[in-house]
Parts: sequence; C-alpha cells; structure tokens
Amino acid sequence: MAMLVQVVWSLFLLVIMTSPLAAQNSTFDPPALYLTWQRDPARTMTVCWHTLDEANPQVFYRPLGGPTNWLTQLGYSRPLAGTVRIVQIAELTGLQPATDYEFCFWPGERRFKFRTAPADLSRPVRFISGGDVYHERKWMDAMNELAGKFDPLFVVIGGDLAYAGDKDKPEKMERWDTYFESWKAKARTPDGRLVPLLVSIGNHEVRGSWHQTPEQASSFYTLFPMPGPQGYNCLDFGNYLSLFLLDSSHTRPVAGTQTDWLRKNLASRRRVPHLFPVYHIPAYPSVRPENGGENGDISQSIRQNWCPLFERYGVKTVFENHDHAYKRTLPLRNNKVDPRGITYLGDGAWGVNLRTPDPKQPRWYIARGGPVRHFYLVTLYPEARHILAINENQEVFDEIYQPTSHRAR
Ligand SMILES: [Fe+2]
Repeated sequence: MAMLVQVVWSLFLLVIMTSPLAAQNSTFDPPALYLTWQRDPARTMTVCWHTLDEANPQVFYRPLGGPTNWLTQLGYSRPLAGTVRIVQIAELTGLQPATDYEFCFWPGERRFKFRTAPADLSRPVRFISGGDVYHERKWMDAMNELAGKFDPLFVVIGGDLAYAGDKDKPEKMERWDTYFESWKAKARTPDGRLVPLLVSIGNHEVRGSWHQTPEQASSFYTLFPMPGPQGYNCLDFGNYLSLFLLDSSHTRPVAGTQTDWLRKNLASRRRVPHLFPVYHIPAYPSVRPENGGENGDISQSIRQNWCPLFERYGVKTVFENHDHAYKRTLPLRNNKVDPRGITYLGDGAWGVNLRTPDPKQPRWYIARGGPVRHFYLVTLYPEARHILAINENQEVFDEIYQPTSHRAR
C-alpha cells in the first residue's frame, strides 16, 4: 500500500512539474521570505512569504538529505493593506529537533533551507538580539549579513524594524519591501540557511507611536504571525529557554492585562534556566532621560510593573532598545545597584543613526554606553550564558558572563 501511495505521489509530482502551470511558475522567487516560530521551535517552523498576486499558500518541504518525497503544508493568505502584496503564511509541524530541512513553493523551483531548534541544551545554543534596524540600507545590509555569519539559531529584534511609520505620517510601505529584501538576501548562515526572525513591536510600527491599539499597527500584525494578535507572547524552547516578546505600550499598555499575563507566565517558568524579556522602550534608557521625555511614563511603568516581576522570577538579562546607542547597565534590583540584580542590555542600534549619551548627565545605572552600532551574540549553556557585544566592524567590544542559578531539567 505504501509503495502504491509513493508511486501515485511520484506520478502526481511528475505531472505537476511538467504542467504549463509549473513552467509559468518556474522562476518564482518571493520578494520577501522570512521564517518565524509561533510555538515549539524544535518541531515547527512558520514560513512567511509575499506574492504580488493571489497564490496558493502552499509549502513543499522535506528533511535535507532524507527521503525525496515532498511533504506539503497549506497555509493562509492575507493582503498587506496599502500595497499589492499578499502575505502568505504556512506553519510546518511534526518536524524533528535540530534537523535541517529544505523547502520550496513548487517542486523544481528554487529551494531554501532552515534548521529546527534543539530539544534540549545538550549542545550550546546561540542566538542574536538587537533592535532599531533600518535607517540606511548599507548599515542594515552589513549587520544582517554579519548576523548570518555567526550561524545563529535565530535573531530577535526588539522593535523599530523598517521605520515605515513615523508618528502620524502616512506609512512608507516601500520601506517594508526593502527591509525584507535585505533580510532574505543577507541574513544567511555560512551554509546558506535562512535565519528565523522573532520580533516585538516598536513605535515605528505604530501610527501614533505609543498608547495606541493594534488597528494602528496593521502592517506589523499582518506581516508577523508572532507575537500574534495579543501583541505580546512567550516562546518556549524546550525547558531551557523562554523568550518574552513584550509590547512596551505601543498597542497594549504595560500595566494591567499584559502585566497580569507576564506574572502568570513567568511564575510557571521558574525552573527554566534562561529567561529573556525583549521589548522596545527601555526601563533604563541610556540616552533619553530616566523619567522625563516623551517616553518617560512608559519607562516608569516598566520599572513599576515589569522589573519587580523579572526580579522575583529569576530573569537576569533583559534586552531593551529604542535609544540608538550601546548600553549595559550595572546589576539592578529594587531600582538600586545590587550584585544579585538584573543586567539591562540595549539600546537598539542595528542599522540606525547613533545617539550619544550626554556626558554632563551620567545615568547612575549605566556600566557602559556609547554610540556604537551593534548586536548581542548570546550563547547558552546549562550552567551559564555568555553574551558578546559585536560592533559593525565585526569586533567584540563588551562581554557578559552569567552563571545560571539552576540547571535545565
Ligand atoms: Fe523607537
């Protein structure tokens, strides 16, 4: 029976690959292609791509070097308002951990590769964190390419991706096109795999910047299935890593429902050794004033609502963004310097114009800061995490080593 199914499937593929439709599609190469996860990164992968017309949201995939039969997954489509683009999204499930797969949008067409996450920390896991990506194409291209060279399991960006939006001005949709064109072309591992991309929302994804609703960030919510309509989410990698993708009061308030959700979800992950919140507006800004300025209320709200939860439930490192500079704080707890405290890293300078902290107004909580385009290369072990700050010249210029207080189960 299995043999019969295989023969029928092979004949089917032969027919469709030689059909006029296949010939018509043979040069199809999506103008945007990015991977993300909505759940279990060891056993799923969400493929997102754009088409310029209605198209079947179908992905053909198979383990690299494995059986030659293609598996198929049908997804769904949604138009990107203000453009001719259709966003296609398909979640592949039932995958094997730490395994390379290839996929395409029609047999015989261009193939792409990805790798699923490991199920545990028996081998080190490496990822990259940054934010504030696209002011100038050359900076974004260079940093995307550099990120890929480090062969990360994924990249997480804490908001301000394409700078398509700017306060109340009309959204510049062509900036999204360029953002994804760069990501697809440049963010490749040395063996050519695509790098999964996780994001949280920033002010440049939102008409009106902050204190808005998801309706004011429709492009962000259409383009990215994660963190999803709730606006914030947690992604668990086995029992060893949980990423909290949070909304710093852009489309969901810091206080209230989001904080209640955060409390519950941190409490249920007490035994996870590596917990990282990632969000846009810093609790401890390196350039903007600690309490004043246009985001002072949000920084204060994060310090009041989220920081005590981070402290209570074992977070040791937080990724913040938005200030366009490098930042490493002193260890902070109870809003004071404390060796048992949390290190806040930031401040969002992937590919943007840089800001310089005012030397006449030093912040009491800053250990190191300055105008440096950079990202963080994070390596996780069962007993520790090791974080390197990498600048655009490919130099390591800062380092954080933190033992974990408990081991992965
Ligand atoms: Fe920002």
